[in-house]
Amino acid sequence: MTSRGMWTSRMGFILAAAGSAVGLGNVWKLPYVTGTNGGGYFILIYLVAVLALGFPIMIAEFVLGRNTGTSPVGTYRKLAGKGSPFVVLGWMGVAAGFIILSYYSVVAGWTLHYVILSITNAFTGREPNEIRALFGDLYAHGPLNLFWHTIFMAITVAVVLGGVQKGIERSSKIMMPLLFLLLAILVGYGVFSDGFGRTVSFIFLPKAENLSAKTVLEAIGQAFFSLSLGMGAMLTYGSYLDKKVDLVRSSLLVCLMDTGVALLACFAIFPIIFSHGLEPSAGPGLVFQTLPVVFSDLPGGSVLAVLFFILLFFAALTSAVSLLEVVASYFIDERTWNRRRATLLSGTIIFLLGIPSALSGSDLLSSVTILGRNVFDTMDNLASNWMLPLGGLGMTLFLGWRLPSTVSRSEFCLGSRHSGMYRSWITCIRYVAPIGLSLVFLYQIGLLGS
Ligand code: TRP
Repeated sequence: MTSRGMWTSRMGFILAAAGSAVGLGNVWKLPYVTGTNGGGYFILIYLVAVLALGFPIMIAEFVLGRNTGTSPVGTYRKLAGKGSPFVVLGWMGVAAGFIILSYYSVVAGWTLHYVILSITNAFTGREPNEIRALFGDLYAHGPLNLFWHTIFMAITVAVVLGGVQKGIERSSKIMMPLLFLLLAILVGYGVFSDGFGRTVSFIFLPKAENLSAKTVLEAIGQAFFSLSLGMGAMLTYGSYLDKKVDLVRSSLLVCLMDTGVALLACFAIFPIIFSHGLEPSAGPGLVFQTLPVVFSDLPGGSVLAVLFFILLFFAALTSAVSLLEVVASYFIDERTWNRRRATLLSGTIIFLLGIPSALSGSDLLSSVTILGRNVFDTMDNLASNWMLPLGGLGMTLFLGWRLPSTVSRSEFCLGSRHSGMYRSWITCIRYVAPIGLSLVFLYQIGLLGS
């Protein structure tokens, strides 16, 4: 057990879990997928998914992880028995960790590039169109993407090598509140721009033509991705937890913080789009093409820009650390490797796996598409819209139907002042979540009409 470690405090745990959840998914991905899905229903479905699936499944991951004190594969092996098909869920989680971090690191690399652009005052006095072009230049530049991808993976590996307490916990405490504050300032700017009214109607006004199985699946996938659920990342964090922590309260706090940051990011970004005639459906470059417009406008904007991209980089780092942690803890727990070897090897494989994503906008790979998506998008779609919700589905089936309720009940209630919620929670895990997720999958693969 020497390689494992424990959280030093409850607060440290909550901050680290929130640090995992709050990341590029909130600031980079939610606004861009909201845009490509045409707004309307998207955010509403996302919010329902956070509440009806995300919150109970987060509790489920903590319950399972704390109960076994081990990684996802070990958890299923311990509770379901060696050779049980449920162990596959653990494997899928590790695989999802590899895939997600491989392209996540590329986007995180963009934040580093934007730190440099901000420091060199690249946005000052530029028109929105020129600012948009800056992202296009970066995206098409293969070697530059590769460079930042390398740097980011190296930093992530270095943090995970530092171990649980030292590496993750200490750093989460200052940066997250700062990011929240800065986003709130940007929203304040947006409220007074003439794009705010249109932002509200774009985001909240349901438009029937935007409601499709694809939109529902992507909104659910976004909820899982943003909350770090479905692959066992929260399960792994739960495995470092002592029995005194209230899992319900912790989950609620993490969900609230995560969703708060996500909504703030949308309300910071969309007003800029609507007041400057930019495209909501611009795709993965959306944050990078919009926020610098404000930074170029505001007095002291270049300082805010540097600060913002550093904070975004940091948010990405705490999330990346949780992804690598899952993969590494598999090798540590299951293969009894030491932390150093596990981390270095997984980091290297993930780095290699990310190279195609890093080059996906370059001449070399920009014309390669798989089922209409480029390499980068394919990785994201595979992991977020399929593997995570499937992992979540499997977990609810396991917890709701296979694990004896005496086990789930006692773990749920330990340390909790919300034991009375067990019944509603387990009902959700047994029925609501699996039925909801199964229906979405059946629609998406065309078995239920559309
Ligand atoms: N939730 C993070 C974000 O929003 C990304 C992330 C970290 C993640 N760990 C994860 C996603 C585990 C899925 C599973 O940026």
